[in-house]
Amino acid sequence: MAGSDDLVERARERFAQARDAAALENAKAGFLGRQGAVTAMLRGLAALDPARKRTEGARINALKREVEALLEQRRAELAQVELDHRLAAETLDVTLPGRGRGRGGIHPVIQAWQRVEAIFRSIGFDVADGPEIENDWTNFTALNNPENHPARSMQDTFYVDLNDAQGLPLVLRTHTSPMQVRYARMNTPPIKVIAPGRTYRVDNDATHSPMFHQVEGLWIAEDISFADLKGVYTDFLRAFFETDALSVRFRSSFFPFTEPSAEIDMMFTSGPNRGRWLEISGSGQVHPVVVRNFGLDPEQYVGFAFGSGLERLAMLRYGVDDLRPFFEGDLRFLSQFNR
Ligand code: PHE
Repeated sequence: MAGSDDLVERARERFAQARDAAALENAKAGFLGRQGAVTAMLRGLAALDPARKRTEGARINALKREVEALLEQRRAELAQVELDHRLAAETLDVTLPGRGRGRGGIHPVIQAWQRVEAIFRSIGFDVADGPEIENDWTNFTALNNPENHPARSMQDTFYVDLNDAQGLPLVLRTHTSPMQVRYARMNTPPIKVIAPGRTYRVDNDATHSPMFHQVEGLWIAEDISFADLKGVYTDFLRAFFETDALSVRFRSSFFPFTEPSAEIDMMFTSGPNRGRWLEISGSGQVHPVVVRNFGLDPEQYVGFAFGSGLERLAMLRYGVDDLRPFFEGDLRFLSQFNR
């Protein structure tokens, strides 16, 4: 067929002239499309006798493959050109300012926790940590809450559907006081420790959350009295709130594990929150039954314990009057404590 040999040359030329992918697809149509030259040649085969059909057919198919190969080659060239263009155009301006990095902060309750730790460490207290899933002997019984005693219902808790290795029922600890027992049984007097941590109760309103934080304090030796409790705790509050303008009172109360027991109230005597008594902590002289459960002789060893709410301390320090935002994770609230 006339002209079929330079068909490949024509294709090469037309493809080379195409400056972009769209132009190349147009050029392709002139050869391989429904109206294209190669397609027309293939159609012409129908009129030939079988012998010529075979030889012509083979020749045209070889031609077609050549044109297809040229097309592929030009496609690759154009893609490379396009890429070179983009690389040249999209330069990186290293002088532009960065996107900036969000910086995390420390939760206000944990900030209170850290302050408490620093203050008590500075006066020689050890800091201890213990399990949040506690056995009910350590959480209640060892602390002089006899089984079935109504005082247990002062602290309604979450029971865990498991027993520990000794077969004791497990609960989410209702206070940090079991740490008194754990720590005292593992150390020898003088015992001087705080134990901050998470605690749990079946409670949920503006001032109670089912999970909250306490810090336990325990000082046991041969000569530690209620007067020491008053002195240590008052000094702690002055350090924590960074002011001497506060009064402290010990109001008679009841806890099974202390005798006598007291609620500690404080009142700012200046500033915007002055003049209101605020309950801040439970406390008392450790009950002789509890000292015995420490493995110590209550005739020899005496001392005090307290258990304070860390949320309460954080709320007073930062002037927050609702407990709930502490646990909602709203950054507009939380970021105010990290400037
Ligand atoms: N554990 C008590 C509570 O959670 C507080 C407390 C601790 C009271 C130590 C006295 C001594 O209510």
